[in-house]
Amino acid sequence: MIPRHVAIIMDGNGRWAKKRLLPRSAGHRAGLQRMRSLIGHIFSRGVEDCTLFALSVENLSRPQEELDALYGLFFEYFTSEVPRLKDSGVKVKAVGDLALLPPRVAEAIACAERDTAQNTAHTLAFAIAYGARRDIVAACNNFVREGKEATEESFSAALSTAPLPPVDLLIRTGREMRLSNFLLYESAYAELWFSDKMFPDFTKADFDRALEEYQKRDRRFGTI
Ligand code: IPE
Ligand code: IPE
Ligand code: MG
Repeated sequence: MIPRHVAIIMDGNGRWAKKRLLPRSAGHRAGLQRMRSLIGHIFSRGVEDCTLFALSVENLSRPQEELDALYGLFFEYFTSEVPRLKDSGVKVKAVGDLALLPPRVAEAIACAERDTAQNTAHTLAFAIAYGARRDIVAACNNFVREGKEATEESFSAALSTAPLPPVDLLIRTGREMRLSNFLLYESAYAELWFSDKMFPDFTKADFDRALEEYQKRDRRFGTI
């Protein structure tokens, strides 16, 4: 089975750059190039939806210079890539708190969402200024405000990842084996796959290896 929803923690840009004696921003640029080339490939393999972790709320405390470089890249991506995504039936979705971003970046992402809202073939979600705990707490507070009890279904629907299905395959590059506050609720039964490669080095063939490995997994969901 091909995973319906793949999520990727795109980690290792900084170390990729450091190894080459380049500034961290060069690593982020190389990561963005990699992301661009991977997206089409992921959907061509039959994956329906994909969520990419691009910036966590915790990352917001990095030096302003690095954040500015990232914001510049996001702006560039969302202003230049939308026509291509639109033509390939991809609906862009922002997952995270856009209010924490510089207004021009937030607006570029919101504009990409609006321009692709009619597409139905794939959803491509970008987790930017995202933190799972924050998202979960915000959902809880909505239920409290409305005086309603949550069910597992209504709770999922209140998260910023709604209406995406649960994550089937979660990939993290960059050698770390942790979730770093990413999709904690949505990944409850995700298959995890960790790559030693830094994200700018993560190729289409590496993605295919993750898919192959996923196909060998026995997803029991608690049964026998
Ligand atoms: C991931 O790469 C991208 C972001 C978090 C924005 P890092 O910047 O975390 O790269 P490393 O982990 O320092 O190598
Ligand atoms: C997680 O990577 C966030 C993104 C890849 C966007 P980090 O590099 O921020 O995670 P930690 O700090 O190593 O846990
Ligand atoms: Mg990192």
